[in-house]
Amino acid sequence: MAPPIFFLLLLIGIQAFVASGCFETERNALLAFKADLIDPRNRLASWKSQNCCAWKGVVCSNTTGHILKLNLRNSYDKIDYFPYGKRPSGLGGKISPSLLLLNHLEHLDLNLNNFSEIRIPEYFGSLKKLRYLNLSGACFNSMVPSQLGNLSKLRYLDLKSFDCDVYNMGVDNFWWLARLTSLHYLDLSFVNMSSTTYWLQAINMLPLLKYLDMSMTSLPTIPISLPYLNITTLGVLKIAGNNINSTLPRWLWNLTSITHLDLSLNEFHGFIPDELSCLKTLNVLSLGSNNFEGLSPKAFTNLCSLNTLDLSGVGFSGEINKWVERLPSCMQQNLQILYCRKNELSGNLSGWLENMTSLTEIDLTGNSLNGTIPLGVWRLTNLTRLYLQSNFFEGAISEIQLSHLQRLKWLDLADNSFNVQISHDWIPPFQLKTLHLASCNLGPKFPTWLQGQTQLEELGLSKNGIVDTLPNWLWNMSRSLAYVHISNNQIKGKLPLTLDHVMLLYLNLSSSQLEGPLPALPQTLSVLDLSNNFFVGPILNATLLRLQYLLLSNNSFDGNLPFALCESTSLQVLDISNNKLSGEIPSCLGMLQDQLLVLDMMSNTLSGNVPTSLGKLRALSILDLSNNRLSGEIPSSLQYCRQLVNLNLGNNNFSGTIPKWIGESLLVLMVLILRSNGFSGSIPSQITQLGYLRVLDLSHNNLSGTIPGSIGKLSWKKGVPTDHMLFFRYGSFDVLAGTAYLVVKGEAREYSKLLYLVESIDLSCNNLYGEIPDEIGDLQALQNLNLSMNHLTGHIPDQIGKMHELESLDVAINKLSGTIPQSLATLNYLSSLNVSYNNLSGKIPSGNQMQTLNDPSIYIGNPYLCGSPTTQSCSTNETTIVFGKESHDRFERLGLYISVVLGFIIGFWIFFGALLLSRSFRNTYFSAIDRTYDRLYVAVALTLIRLRRRCGEM
Ligand SMILES: *[C@@H]1O[C@H](CO)[C@@H](O)[C@H](O)[C@H]1NC(C)=O
Ligand SMILES: *[C@@H]1O[C@H](CO)[C@@H](O)[C@H](O)[C@H]1NC(C)=O
Ligand SMILES: *[C@@H]1O[C@H](CO)[C@@H](O)[C@H](O)[C@H]1NC(C)=O
Ligand SMILES: *[C@@H]1O[C@H](CO)[C@@H](O)[C@H](O)[C@H]1NC(C)=O
Ligand SMILES: *[C@@H]1O[C@H](CO)[C@@H](O)[C@H](O)[C@H]1NC(C)=O
Repeated sequence: MAPPIFFLLLLIGIQAFVASGCFETERNALLAFKADLIDPRNRLASWKSQNCCAWKGVVCSNTTGHILKLNLRNSYDKIDYFPYGKRPSGLGGKISPSLLLLNHLEHLDLNLNNFSEIRIPEYFGSLKKLRYLNLSGACFNSMVPSQLGNLSKLRYLDLKSFDCDVYNMGVDNFWWLARLTSLHYLDLSFVNMSSTTYWLQAINMLPLLKYLDMSMTSLPTIPISLPYLNITTLGVLKIAGNNINSTLPRWLWNLTSITHLDLSLNEFHGFIPDELSCLKTLNVLSLGSNNFEGLSPKAFTNLCSLNTLDLSGVGFSGEINKWVERLPSCMQQNLQILYCRKNELSGNLSGWLENMTSLTEIDLTGNSLNGTIPLGVWRLTNLTRLYLQSNFFEGAISEIQLSHLQRLKWLDLADNSFNVQISHDWIPPFQLKTLHLASCNLGPKFPTWLQGQTQLEELGLSKNGIVDTLPNWLWNMSRSLAYVHISNNQIKGKLPLTLDHVMLLYLNLSSSQLEGPLPALPQTLSVLDLSNNFFVGPILNATLLRLQYLLLSNNSFDGNLPFALCESTSLQVLDISNNKLSGEIPSCLGMLQDQLLVLDMMSNTLSGNVPTSLGKLRALSILDLSNNRLSGEIPSSLQYCRQLVNLNLGNNNFSGTIPKWIGESLLVLMVLILRSNGFSGSIPSQITQLGYLRVLDLSHNNLSGTIPGSIGKLSWKKGVPTDHMLFFRYGSFDVLAGTAYLVVKGEAREYSKLLYLVESIDLSCNNLYGEIPDEIGDLQALQNLNLSMNHLTGHIPDQIGKMHELESLDVAINKLSGTIPQSLATLNYLSSLNVSYNNLSGKIPSGNQMQTLNDPSIYIGNPYLCGSPTTQSCSTNETTIVFGKESHDRFERLGLYISVVLGFIIGFWIFFGALLLSRSFRNTYFSAIDRTYDRLYVAVALTLIRLRRRCGEM
C-alpha cells in the first residue's frame, strides 16, 4: 500500500463502536468516500446521520455491525427499451482509498454510474473479502488493473462496459483472471480485448465458472481445441459479436452443463456438426449471423429442452419444412422463440408452424417464403411477436385473424403482398409496442383503429396508398412513440405547429405531399427525413443536440442556413439538396468537426466562397455543393478532409486551378466532379495517383495543357477503401454502433459493387491539346471515356483496344487524324461511339461490335473516312460525298451527346432501382437502428446516382 493512503487510513482509523450500530471507522471511511464523489442528483443525501447502517445503499451485518454491502447502483428511467431510455446522471469523480477501511466489505455495486475520468482503482484488489463486484456500465476508462486478480474470494465480477460515451476500457493481459478461482460469474462484454490471445486458457483455470459473457470484445481468436476442459460447470457462454473466423471449436461439445450458448454475429463457418446434440441441457441456442455451410443431420437431436433458437442469417436455403423436420418433435413442442431471419428459405407455413403451440416469438423476416398464413397460426394464442416482413406472403388479413392474438406486442407484416383490411372502429385485443405494416394496402384512409394503442413505440405505415391527412391523435396516442415511418403515401396537409412533446427518435415522412413550415421538433430526435414534400421556410428552427441525420432534400425550404444547424453537433448526414436555400455556406459548419459524414447541398442557390472551416470536418466523406452559385477557389483547407470519397463541386462559378493536393491528400477519393466551372490551368498529374478514383469529371472548364501521360495509373487500387473510417467507425465499442457496424460491414460488399459500376472519365469541353496518351489503354475497367470538344491532335491510340469494359467512347470535335484503330472492333461492350468532326481518314474498322455502330452521324465531319456506314467507298479515289463543313455549330451535336449519355444512365437506373429495392430485404435486430443506417446507405447511394445523372446533363 502506498504511504499516503496508509496515512489517510491512520487518520480516519479510530476504532470505536457506536451504540447506534455503526462503526465510527467505517462511518468516517464512507464520509471520506462521499467527499471525493461527484453526486449531481444528491443521491447520497442520507449519508450524514450517526447510524451509517441506515444510509441509503449501505447494508451492515445483523450480527457484527460491520458494513457488508455498498449498493450504489444507478437506475434507468422507466422506459425499458434501451435506445429510448435516458440515463440519469450517476455518481462520478474519484473513488477514495478510504474504502479499504471497510474491512468486511463483501459486495460493491457501482452499476451505471459514470467514472469516465478514472481507471478502476488498483486498490480494489485489496478489498480482500469482496465476493461481489459490479462495475458494469460505470464507464471507467483505460486498462482493467491486474490487481483485481488478488480478489480470491470473488464470485461475481461484472465489468460490462455498456452505455458509455466512450468505450475505452480494455484488458491486455488475461492471466490475473486465472487467479480468481472462486469466480462463478464473469461479464466482460464490450471491454476491448483485441490484444489478448490466451484468454480461454486463463478462463479455463476457473473451475467454478457458471456464467461467462465475452460479447462485443473484439476477441481476435478462439482456440479450436483444448487439452483438457476445466470449465465443465459452465451454464452460460456468450461470445457474440467478435468476428471470430473459425470453425466451431471442439471443446464446446464437452460443456455438458450448458444451458445458454450464444455464438451469434461472428464468422463461424463449416457445418453445424452432430456433436451439437451432446448439449442436452441447452435452453437457449443462438448461432445467428455466421457463415455456416450447413447442418449435419442429427445436430438437433436430443435438444429437447431448447426453448429459444436463433438461426438468423446463417446462410440456410431450401424449403423451410425440410429444416423444420430436422428439429426433433420434443423440441418443436417446447420451442418458445424461433428466429430465422435473413436466410434464403422458401416454401410456406402450412403444416408445421401451427403445430409449435408453445411459440411466443417467431421471426421469419427476409426469406423467400410464400403462400397465405394458415388459420392455425392466427390461433397461436401465446404469440407476442410475429415478424414476417420481406417475404412473398399474400392473402387478406382482417380483424378476424388478429382477434385471437391477445398477447401480441410486436407485429411486422411489412413488404409482402398482404391485403390488410381492418374496419376503422375495431378495438384490438392487444396493446402493441411495434407495428410495421409497410406495403399492406391499408389506404386510402388513415387507420383509425390504431388510436387505442397507447404503448406503441414503433409505427411503420409506408407505401400503403394512404390518401389522407395525419390525424392529430397520432402524436398523442402513446407516450413512448419513438419511431414513426410513414413515407411514400399521399399524406396531405400540414404538421402540427409543435411536435416537441413527442419523444421521437426517428421521424420519416418522406415522399408525401406535406406542406407548410417545419414544426417545433423534440430534443430526442436523432433521424429526421422529410425529403420529397412541399415544406417551406427555414430548415431548422432549433438546435437539436441528438440529431444525426437531417434529410430534407426536394422541398421548398428557403432562406439562409441557420446557425442552429452548426449547433446540432451530432449531425452525421446533412442532405438539404434541391431546395431554395440561398446566402453563403455558414463558416460555423466547421463546428461539426469529427461528426459530419455527408454534406449534400446540391441544387440550391447558395453563393459566395466555400468557407475554409470546412477543412475541420475531418470525417467528411461526401461533399456535394454542385448546382449552386458558389465562386472563388477551392479552399486549400479541404486537403484535411482526408476521408472524402466523393467531392462534387460541379455547375458553379469556381475558378482558379485544380489544386495539386487533391491527388496528394484525398487518397480515398472515388468520385471527383468539377464540371461546368471556370477552372483553368492544366490537369495536375498528381490526380492520377488517386488509386480509388472511379469517376473523374473535369468537363466544361477552361482547362488547357495536355492529358497527363500517367493517366493510365488512375484507379489502380481494386475495390473500396476498406481502411476508410466509414467502415471502421461503427466498429468502436459503441453500443448502438456495435450492431450497426455489422450492417455497415455487410453493406461494404454492395457498396463496392456500386462504385465499380461507374468508372468514367469526362474531360470534354476544355482546351486540352496534345495527343491522347497511349497509357490510356491501361484503364482496363473504364466504361466511359469522353474527350470531346478539345483540341487534341495525333492518332486515336491503338491501345484503346485494351479497354475491355469500355461502353462509351467520345472523341468528337477535336483535331485527331490518322485512322480509327481496328482494335476498337474487339471491344465487346462498346455501344456508343462518336468520332465526328476530326480529321480521321481511312477505312472505318469493321466486324464484331463495329457492326452495331452503324449510325453515319457518329463519323460525320471526317471527310476522308470511308467504308460502311459512310456512303464513301474505300476502293476508289477519295471524296465524292462530303458530309458537311467543319462544324459551324457545336451545339447542333448536343442532342447526340445527350442520347449517348442517357443510354448509359438509363442502364444505371435500372441497376440501381434493383439495388435499392433489395435493401428492403435487409434487417437487424434493432429495427430502429437498422433503419437509421439504411438511410445512410441510401443517402450514399442516392448521391452517387444523382451525380452520375447530372454528369450526363449538358
Ligand atoms: C438483517 O435482518 C433483516 C431483518 O431481520 C433482514 O431482512 C436482512 O436480510 C438481514 N441482513 C443480513 C445481511 O443478514
Ligand atoms: C484446471 O484448473 C485447475 C485449477 O484452477 C488448474 O490448476 C489447472 O491447471 C487447470 N487445467 C488447465 C488445463 O488449464
Ligand atoms: C471431451 O470429452 C471427451 C469424451 O468425454 C473426452 O475424450 C475429451 O478429452 C474431452 N475433451 C476435452 C477438451 O476436455
Ligand atoms: C476467414 O478465414 C478464411 C481462411 O481461413 C478466409 O478465406 C476468409 O476470407 C476469412 N473470412 C473473413 C470474413 O475474414
Ligand atoms: C401437425 O398437427 C396435425 C394435427 O395435429 C397433424 O396432423 C400433423 O401431422 C402435424 N404436422 C407435423 C409436421 O407434425
